[in-house]
Formats: sequence, structure tokens, C-alpha cells
Amino acid sequence: MTLAAIWAQGHGRAIGRAGSMAWHVPEDLHHFKRLTMGHTVIMGRATYDSFGEKYRPLEGRRNIVVTRSGRTFPGCETAASLEEARDMAGDGLSWIIGGAQIYEQAAPMLDGYVVTDIDVDVPGADAFAPPLPDWSSPDWEIVGADPDRGWHTSSTGLRYRFTALKRRGTEPWSGNPLL
Ligand SMILES: NC(=O)c1ccc[n+]([C@@H]2O[C@H](COP(=O)([O-])OP(=O)(O)OC[C@H]3O[C@@H](n4cnc5c(N)ncnc54)[C@H](OP(=O)(O)O)[C@@H]3O)[C@@H](O)[C@H]2O)c1
Repeated sequence: MTLAAIWAQGHGRAIGRAGSMAWHVPEDLHHFKRLTMGHTVIMGRATYDSFGEKYRPLEGRRNIVVTRSGRTFPGCETAASLEEARDMAGDGLSWIIGGAQIYEQAAPMLDGYVVTDIDVDVPGADAFAPPLPDWSSPDWEIVGADPDRGWHTSSTGLRYRFTALKRRGTEPWSGNPLL
């Protein structure tokens, strides 16, 4: 299997505030949908709760929610640990889609990262992504359609850029338009 994480972060690796995201960049939502569509997505219970009811489960993807609560979630499978979620996901490409607790715990298991930097301050942020691995080290490489990590400007005016990292020696990520 290939396990990769995807997130968007503001300055200081801020990913959330009061249970939701603190910016609106439709181009990044489109990018998230394009990369994850057809694959398994694994998320923490708080991230599941952060999605509006009409967006969950995420359509066209196998949704696995990690929780210790024993709760069930319509249209989703549940796992009592991240390791259980990974084992349930099986072969193919699976995406870790947050939040902070799950990104942190998943880091040792990951084959890749796709991160969107948003050029925005997030005062009051209360959820943060872990640091990315050092891609100048022999273990990681920059991949993807945009290795120069150039900035783009959203229709909402915010600047954003993509970074895609792959653990060296792992299989290419087939079926993924960015990678
Ligand atoms: N910017 C982005 O790309 C992005 C992406 C995703 C999320 N977010 C933001 O991140 C924030 C949520 O992150 P978070 O860290 O608070 O929560 P989270 O990681 O989404 O979920 C935490 C919950 O997951 C469950 N959990 C965690 N570790 C577990 C384990 N080892 N075994 C079983 N269950 C486990 C627990 O659920 P129970 O309490 O039910 O047991 C825990 O309360 C929100 O603000 C959201 O908007 C941002």
C-alpha cells in the first residue's frame, strides 16, 4: 500500500481554528478532491465532525474514521486506532486527511506528503501540522508537476503553493495526476 498525507497550512503550520479551517481557497479544495477521489481517506473523528453534513462521507472515496469512542458515522467505516485504519485500507493509495493528532501519529508510516502552503496568518490557530521531513536528505525527494513550488494566486486573493514529497525507494504513486 501507499500511505500519503495531504493538508493545507497557513503561517506557522496552522491547519485549524475552533474546529474548522481558517481560510477559503477553492483551488485547494479542488486539488484535494482531484487527488483523493477514488481512494481511501483516513481521518480523525474531529476532522469528520468539522465537515458540513452535506459533505460527509466524502463522496467517491472510501471513508475511514479513527475514534476511541465506539461511535459510528453514516457511510463511513470506523477504526479504533490508526494502525487498524491502515490495515483496513489494504492495497492501493490511501490518504491521511487529518487532523493534527492523526498527522502527528501517522508521520512514521507515511510514504508521501502533499502540502499546500497558504500565505496567510492564522491568529488563534489551535491545530498545527507536524514539520515536513527534510527533503534535502537522502530519504526524501520532491516530486510532482511543480518541483519549483511556485506561488499561485487564488480567486480569493490569497497566495498558495504545493509541495509534494515522496519517500525514496517507494513505488511511484500510480493513478495520481499530481504525482
Ligand atoms: N488544513 C487542513 O488541511 C486540515 C485537514 C484536516 C483537519 N484540519 C483541522 O484540524 C482540526 C482537527 O484536528 P484535531 O487534531 O483536533 O483532531 P483529529 O486529529 O481530526 O481527530 C482527533 C480524534 O481522533 C481520534 N483519535 C486520535 N488518535 C487516535 C488513536 N490513536 N486511536 C483512536 N482514535 C484516535 C479521537 O477521536 P474520539 O475523541 O472520538 O475518540 C480524537 O479525539 C480542525 O480544526 C480541522 O478543521 C485541517
